[in-house]
Amino acid sequence: MIEIIGPLARPPEAGSADGGATKPAPLQKQLIERLQQAILTGRLAAGSLLPSSRLLAAEMGVSRNTVVIAYEHLAAVGYVVADKKGTRVSPLSSPAARGEAPVRSAAPDVAYAARVAQFAATRTHADNTFPLTPGTPALDRFPLGAWRRALERSMDRALPLALGYGTPAGEPALRDAIAAHLRMARGVRCDGAQVVITEGAQEALNLCVRLFTNPGDLAWVEDPGYRGAKAAFNLGDLRTLPMPVDAEGMAAPASAWLAQPPKLIYTSPAHQYPTGAVLSVARRLELIAQARRCGAWLIEDDYDGEFRHTGEPIASMQGLVDDAPVLYVGSFSKTMFPALRIGFVVLPRAIAEHTAVALQEMLRGGHRLEQLALAHFIDSGEFGRHLGRMRRLYRERQQALRDALTAHFARARILGGDCGMHLTLRLPAQVADRTLVERALAKGLNPRALSGFALQQRVETNGLVIGYGNTPAERLAPAVDALATLARELEGKPRRALKHGSKTASTAA
Ligand SMILES: Cc1ncc(COP(=O)(O)O)c(C=O)c1O
Repeated sequence: MIEIIGPLARPPEAGSADGGATKPAPLQKQLIERLQQAILTGRLAAGSLLPSSRLLAAEMGVSRNTVVIAYEHLAAVGYVVADKKGTRVSPLSSPAARGEAPVRSAAPDVAYAARVAQFAATRTHADNTFPLTPGTPALDRFPLGAWRRALERSMDRALPLALGYGTPAGEPALRDAIAAHLRMARGVRCDGAQVVITEGAQEALNLCVRLFTNPGDLAWVEDPGYRGAKAAFNLGDLRTLPMPVDAEGMAAPASAWLAQPPKLIYTSPAHQYPTGAVLSVARRLELIAQARRCGAWLIEDDYDGEFRHTGEPIASMQGLVDDAPVLYVGSFSKTMFPALRIGFVVLPRAIAEHTAVALQEMLRGGHRLEQLALAHFIDSGEFGRHLGRMRRLYRERQQALRDALTAHFARARILGGDCGMHLTLRLPAQVADRTLVERALAKGLNPRALSGFALQQRVETNGLVIGYGNTPAERLAPAVDALATLARELEGKPRRALKHGSKTASTAA
């Protein structure tokens, strides 16, 4: 038997080279594992008789009791059967145990759900800390001390009760704090009972899909647009219809409302992602009126509306008229930090009441200490002060990026910038955005390809989405210089030719 299962490992002698630091598993555990492996791989064939416990104990140099317990364990899980004649290997259905060639696991023939194939790889995570990454805030400017104190405060006050399940829709204190903040800062008409806390905006989108659609329903998405919205719609087995975006935001043709009426519409009105267009009031009112007429729901993603850089703040679409059919989605990923994974959706009052039971069954609450800490962070004014500091910082960084882009990409058009943490740069057709992005990544820069956000590729969707949130102002000019050099190489032109002219625009075209 020892040729089949091999000798067992013994503890090193005292005073041996590693001083006994690496201890093998107990003999009984080793014996069980060796026998199991031998059976699963067919080295001990089905039906074969195992040696008596006395013989095996002598052969392996262990006590008889060790073998008896190992055999009993193997019999209890079905690897062996014991009868009057002894202990035999059970007939198992693993191919190796039947003496067949093992099944290759490299390309498993698994019947996945059809929706799995609809996801295309568009994100890279390892490089999210690189300069120019869109969507990453200034993590090194986050007030860690104040956050730590808020966490400690919630631990001191809420433990141990807050280790248990919480209210499914989230901590009431946080829901109230968010509602008060949104009423004041974003003109959202709500109270805490309408707020449902989610695992970031992504889970809020998924929740909207679950509450308001059935598989096969039609959803409109901005094109180019946020891939998270498309992912949520895929997950709900929805059909999606791309809607073009222009300088005034989502531009739904009048005919589409009749020919292809949606159940759900995703829009980012404060700062269209990624073109940066601000949805005009005329379009907001039209969207609300048409959605009402055809019984559709508008998802208003206000992901970076808190960072308004030009003119007066533009209030939310949700608060524009009474009872707008709007599901207002927000996230703390940009205003706090992405790993917090706290977002929310504000449901219309009647919907919040009608869906209370469903929500209780669908959600489990959780992250209670963080939610309580965040409630305090908001109520104490720390959140507002942080937002103010970040607004000033991002304005300064945006100006530095805009200046560098104007200097280095004279003929390219700059889009967006009224809000948020990124600018979008249109590139000439000769400079393929994905190739440029690949080469930039190799140099430690992480802008994204505009075409990656487009469902239908067009000339206008060749460009770069350039984040400035996580990049100090003084690093922006050298980074843009490096991008311009790469773009020149792709265009096949000498470097200096870039630096002429100064045509820029601040909104999408
Ligand atoms: C348009 C848009 N909405 C929402 C989010 C935030 O998503 P989450 O809260 O899931 O991090 C992002 C993040 O990049 C975004 O770009």
